Amino acid sequence: MKTFSNTFRVLFGLQILSLWAGTAMAGVVGSQHDLTTGGTAQGQTANTDEVCVFCHTPHGSDVNAPVPLWNKVLGAPGSYTQYSTLQTPSFDSTEAPVGSVSLACLSCHDGTQAMDVVINLPGSGGHNTAGAEVDPIALGTMSGTPVPNLGTDLTDDHPISMQYGGGGPVAADADGTYAGTLGDADFVAPVKATVNGPIWWVDSPVGTAGTREKTDMILYARNDLGAVQPFVECGSCHDPHNDATKGPTTVAFLRIDNTASQICTTCHVK
Ligand code: HEC
Ligand code: HEC
Ligand code: HEC
Ligand code: HEC
Repeated sequence: MKTFSNTFRVLFGLQILSLWAGTAMAGVVGSQHDLTTGGTAQGQTANTDEVCVFCHTPHGSDVNAPVPLWNKVLGAPGSYTQYSTLQTPSFDSTEAPVGSVSLACLSCHDGTQAMDVVINLPGSGGHNTAGAEVDPIALGTMSGTPVPNLGTDLTDDHPISMQYGGGGPVAADADGTYAGTLGDADFVAPVKATVNGPIWWVDSPVGTAGTREKTDMILYARNDLGAVQPFVECGSCHDPHNDATKGPTTVAFLRIDNTASQICTTCHVK
C-alpha cells in the first residue's frame, strides 16, 4: 500500500510539474508573436511593451473579415493565388476567396505590409484607418520565403479557405458528430455545436471528445458557397497565442504537437 501511494504521489507530482511547464510558456509574451523587446520575432521595438497591440485593438478594429478586434489592415481577398489553381487532380473541396481568420494571419505572413502597421496606435489618439507603423525603423515586412513569409501565392501552402472534407455539413444539421456522408470519404467526421450560430471542429486525440477545445482542429463557419458550412483556415491547425506546443519539430503555434503527424491524421483518414 505504501509503495502504491508513494508511486501515486510521484506520478501526481510529475503531472503537476508538466502542467506547470505547459502553461509557463503558453502565452504570447516572449514568443515569436511578441514584437516588443521581450520577444523573439524578426525585429523588436522598444516603442511599446503592449504585446497585443500588433494584432488587436479594444476599439475601432478592421471588420472586413470576422476576426476578433483586428488592429491591422486586412488584405484584399482577390490579391491571393489559391491552392486550387495548381489543379491537382485529387483536390475536391470547393474554395471560397481567402477570408476569415486566414486574412488576419496573412496581414503579416504575406509580406505585403510592415508587421507593425496598426490601425490604432498604442496610447491616446493615433487611430488611422489606413494604418501607421509603431516603429518604422525597427520593424519592417516579414522576411524569409516561402516560410515564414508565405507571400500572396498560396499554391505551395496547405490549402485554406475551402470547405471541409469535400462538403456535406451545413448549419441545419443536428448538433454532435456529423451523421451524413462527406463529399470525400477520406476525412474524419466533424463535430457541430451551437453558440450564437453553428460552430464546428474535428476532435483531436488531445483533450475531451465532443467538446470544442483549443487543442481540436477548429473549423470556421462561412457563408460563401450558398450555405453556412465549416471551412479550413490557418487557425484550424494553428493557435497564434500558444507558443508551448512544439514537438517534434521546433515550430510554435501548433494546436497540438505533430508527433506521428497527428495534426494531419486528426482530419485526414490516411
Ligand atoms: C500575432 C497576432 C496576435 C497577437 C499578438 C495576439 N493575438 Fe489574439 N488573436 C489573434 C488571432 C489571429 C485571433 C483569431 C483566432 C481564431 O479565430 O481562431 C485571435 C483571437 C483572440 C481572442 C478570441 C479567441 C480566443 O482565443 O479566445 C482573444 C480573446 C484574444 N485573441 C486576445 C489576445 C490578447 C489578450 C493578446 C495579448 C496578450 C493577443 N490576443 C495577442 C492574433 C493575435
Ligand atoms: C483541419 C483539417 C485538416 C488538417 C489538420 C490537415 N488537412 Fe490536409 N486538407 C484538408 C482538407 C479539407 C483538404 C482539401 C480536400 C481535399 O483535397 O480532398 C486538404 C488537402 C490536403 C492536401 C491536398 C490534396 C490535393 O488533392 O491536392 C494534402 C496533400 C494535405 N491536405 C495534406 C495534409 C498534411 C500533410 C497535413 C498535416 C501537416 C494536413 N493535410 C492537415 C484538411 C486538413
Ligand atoms: C503581427 C504580425 C503577425 C501576425 C498577425 C501573425 N504572425 Fe505568425 N509570426 C510573426 C512573426 C514576426 C514570426 C516569426 C517569424 C520568424 O520565424 O522569423 C511569426 C511566426 C509564426 C510561426 C512560426 C513559429 C515558429 O516557431 O517557427 C507560425 C506557425 C505562425 N507565425 C503562424 C501564424 C498564424 C497561424 C497567424 C494567424 C492566426 C499568425 N501567425 C499571425 C508575425 C505575425
Ligand atoms: C492543415 C494544417 C495547417 C494549415 C491550414 C496551416 N498550417 Fe502552417 N503549419 C502547419 C504545420 C503542421 C506546421 C509545422 C511544420 C513543421 O513542423 O515543420 C506549420 C508551420 C507554419 C509556419 C512555420 C514554418 C517554418 O518552417 O518556419 C508558419 C509561418 C505557418 N505555418 C503559417 C501558416 C499560415 C499563415 C497559414 C494560413 C495561410 C497556415 N500556416 C495554415 C499546419 C498548417
